[in-house]
Amino acid sequence: MMMRVIEDELFPSTPGKVKIERTHAASRQFHRCFASTSTLFLWALLLIALTASYLSFQSFVDTSSRYFTASWGGLHWERQIRASAAVRRDDGIAVLVTGAAGFVGTHVSLALRRRGDGVVGIDNFNAYYDPSLKKARKALLAGHGVFVVDGDINDARLLEKLFDTVPFTHVMHLAAQAGVRYAIENPASYIHSNVAGLVTLLEACKSADPQPAIVWASSSSVYGLNDKVPFSESDRTDRPASLYAATKKAGEEITHIYNHIYGLSITGLRFFTVYGPWGRPDMAYFSFTRNILQGKPITVYRGRDGTDLARDFTYIDDIVKGCVAALDTAEASTGIGKQKRRPAQYRIYNLGNTSPVTVPALVRILERYLKVKARKNMVEMPGNGDVPFTHANISLARAELGYKPTTNLETGLKKFVKWYLSYYGYSRRAGGKHQ
Ligand SMILES: NC(=O)c1ccc[n+]([C@@H]2O[C@H](COP(=O)([O-])OP(=O)(O)OC[C@H]3O[C@@H](n4cnc5c(N)ncnc54)[C@H](O)[C@@H]3O)[C@@H](O)[C@H]2O)c1
Repeated sequence: MMMRVIEDELFPSTPGKVKIERTHAASRQFHRCFASTSTLFLWALLLIALTASYLSFQSFVDTSSRYFTASWGGLHWERQIRASAAVRRDDGIAVLVTGAAGFVGTHVSLALRRRGDGVVGIDNFNAYYDPSLKKARKALLAGHGVFVVDGDINDARLLEKLFDTVPFTHVMHLAAQAGVRYAIENPASYIHSNVAGLVTLLEACKSADPQPAIVWASSSSVYGLNDKVPFSESDRTDRPASLYAATKKAGEEITHIYNHIYGLSITGLRFFTVYGPWGRPDMAYFSFTRNILQGKPITVYRGRDGTDLARDFTYIDDIVKGCVAALDTAEASTGIGKQKRRPAQYRIYNLGNTSPVTVPALVRILERYLKVKARKNMVEMPGNGDVPFTHANISLARAELGYKPTTNLETGLKKFVKWYLSYYGYSRRAGGKHQ
């Protein structure tokens, strides 16, 4: 009986449509069989249609919720971008700084803004280290009229929107997953930011009109197992010791492709251990300072043969000068409409300090400025990607960028400690405050 009702509903005796005869038992049986198969078929179709519309609704909801909850877009946002990108000096440049809420990004953005260039930042404020420090840097930049977009360089739509809103002349690309040891824990983050993010950014730059010139941060880590010192740009870089180094080396190759095919002007800067105020909490000079002040022991690594590790520590102001000089000497990109018109500039420079200092010597300087003796655990360096020493040959940057570092570790650490004590409230309270 039930089947009959369904049959009637699905095959109504509508005028003009064939009415099914139900006289003969055999044909009736056949019909039932046919009808139930058809019924099933129709139900299946209905189900598929419902599933498909549900899925497309879901994707609509996803896309629109992403659109509506995105922290960017809208007239007010565009006005902020344009104001931040406004150039306030003759022959000034308009720079998109990626990783602007990072250590180096903040300093470079400030330096550019101070001399009247237009600067817009982008940063995803990830939690690799304390995001409140990144937010504080963002607030510092806002106080100087630099707006930092909260977004990821993998967001192609956001990048397209930024280039549509502002004809950036330059990109200072500093966004990256930094640090060597974290790759053991989270290797994917290096691929996400240093490889996929770089390609997304270069795609946006290649399509932008005008195409910007790109200056970006590679790293001294590309020298890897190289033991010829000091490290020169022409030395081998095909033996990285960490995933971080490998992604930076990959970045040098990837940028070369975009230079070769699309005419993007590229300058890669191999930074050597940058330190200073507003620095990175994951770096040794920073975490040593925190631990020493909190009375906690510090771990000092030594080489396998008992030798001290040494780094070519480079003060942030010197790095900033190198970055700005690279921007100022960068030639324009030569592509238009994604086509290269003629060969474009491709450069790589070391930006170091040329005088490596051992880690125990660094600790002694900190002890002096902090007026606290460090409790040291001397540990053999684990095989997690660190290299025993770095030492930059900077003659190329000196000759072509006029790069000339002027701050030694003593002076630079003094400035860092002063900032640290003030930022974390030690100068205001006797006995200090715990981070
Ligand atoms: N500080 C050094 O000693 C040193 C040495 C060699 C190379 N470098 C390179 O210099 C650059 C700047 O380093 P830093 O010390 O300022 O590091 P940092 O971690 O302080 O700054 C990087 C910033 O990029 C942001 N970021 C990361 N991935 C992102 C993404 N996918 N989208 C948007 N933003 C993202 C982070 O939130 C961070 O604020 C990096 O490329 C780093 O690899 C630094």
